[in-house]
Amino acid sequence: MANELTVVVLAAGGGTRMKSKTMKVLHSIGGRTMVGHVLAAVQALEPERIVAVVGHQREQVGPHIHELVPDAVLAVQEELLGTGDAVRVAIAAVGEPTGTVLVAAGDTPLLEGESLRAFAADHLAAGRAVSILSGVVPDPTGYGRVVRGPDGDVEAIVEEKDATDEQRAIDEINSGILAFDAAFLREALPRLTNDNAKGEYYLTDLVGLARDAGLSVGAFAIDDVAQTEGANDRAQLAELGRELNRRIVTRWMRAGVSVMDPATTWIDADVVLAEDVTILPGTQLLGATVIAEDAVVGPDTTLKDCEVGTGARVVRTHGELAVVGAGANVGPWSYLRPGTELGADGKIGAFVETKNASIGPGAKVPHLSYVGDAEIGEGTNIGAGTIVANYDGVAKHRTTVGRHARTGSNNTFVAPVTIGDGAATGAGTVVRHDVPAGALTVSSGPQRDLEGWVLRRRAGTTQAAAAESAGAEDPQRPAEA
Ligand code: UD1
Ligand code: MG
Repeated sequence: MANELTVVVLAAGGGTRMKSKTMKVLHSIGGRTMVGHVLAAVQALEPERIVAVVGHQREQVGPHIHELVPDAVLAVQEELLGTGDAVRVAIAAVGEPTGTVLVAAGDTPLLEGESLRAFAADHLAAGRAVSILSGVVPDPTGYGRVVRGPDGDVEAIVEEKDATDEQRAIDEINSGILAFDAAFLREALPRLTNDNAKGEYYLTDLVGLARDAGLSVGAFAIDDVAQTEGANDRAQLAELGRELNRRIVTRWMRAGVSVMDPATTWIDADVVLAEDVTILPGTQLLGATVIAEDAVVGPDTTLKDCEVGTGARVVRTHGELAVVGAGANVGPWSYLRPGTELGADGKIGAFVETKNASIGPGAKVPHLSYVGDAEIGEGTNIGAGTIVANYDGVAKHRTTVGRHARTGSNNTFVAPVTIGDGAATGAGTVVRHDVPAGALTVSSGPQRDLEGWVLRRRAGTTQAAAAESAGAEDPQRPAEA
């Protein structure tokens, strides 16, 4: 179909009701900004061009839009004179578009590409000058109302502030998403006036202008009106966030993911889950997290930008930019910081923090440890309570542990240091220099037993009594005559 499509996204408004230094469309739900969701929906249409109208905080909004859609055209609206003025600025920025111009607002994060596609197709098929994506809502307060004549034809959109009582009772509203024949739009935009209750140039007045010119106008009602809902304050944003999440979680369940408690499971829009993944209660899967088949995640786990392999288990864990190999075990109470890579069938256990650490296939860090800036070889076991001392107070250094090594409990590896393949260390060892392959390294002092010390120094305590009843004697006390 050789119909050129231009999409205009309106994102110049400030959103004062957010009470925020961050502009409205830059607030996020589901791991994307509001305008990010709208741009994703719009991109599904594969338009010839996307024009974003920016105004308030354009130093932040502009670059954000360019990051998401590098070839988007940014049109700057210096003064917020209304939606009609915003579209005029957008059209001026692209010259003379032909075909269809679709206008959407930047603050409707539940909008889906499929709905836009159906709307645009209906607009073209009907050959209208103006199409309105409308919706019937329980409470139309604040919206422009779609006014229909006796024959049911759309006659106008009347804004709340300009509406008569009778018009205010209409429950069919303008979602703010409109499609125009580009030639009509270019010709009619300069004829808009701001002679209305808000003193703004209303884009919606184009409906009346088209009618007056005898052109065809119509509304396409969307059943799923939530897709066109905007958020004006943070309470509404949270509501939309919950609804978006409900939709995402439902979609994944339909795609073969088990979710034990959808109400406490949060999944960002860009997360990818395989069939037969199981998600247990209290789990947040954020950013670009990817979970492979048969993996079980949760309960009470947050993973941001993580990759979890087939059949792995991640229990009560906080992870960011970490990779967990197939069949590996993580948690409970593990903290995977950026750059963690756990190999297949490996283990990161309870109260273990890792950062910038590669832990090889089958290698285990089971208990109470910190592993940072380190590489641990295949099949190696790190003893309980091991600290990799990667930071000397000035700079970070690397630690390397070879394959199939067995290090003792309560070790400290003072980086930079290398422990060879198959090496062993004793309990309490502080490794300060390299350990050769196959060596046993011990550094804690020999054990000394000061017999009778408790009887002498803790006389009269339950401790001393217990020792005495076990037959302990104080060798320093002269034997009784
Ligand atoms: C608008 C519609 C109304 C519709 C409602 C849906 C008009 C006149 N009214 O009303 O029929 O029911 O949206 O939510 O179009 N914007 C700019 N520049 C401006 C003014 C607005 O970029 O000069 C942007 C805003 O940032 C926002 C969008 O356009 O994203 C809509 O503007 P807003 O002021 O919220 O219009 P409403 O009064 O809600
Ligand atoms: Mg609005």
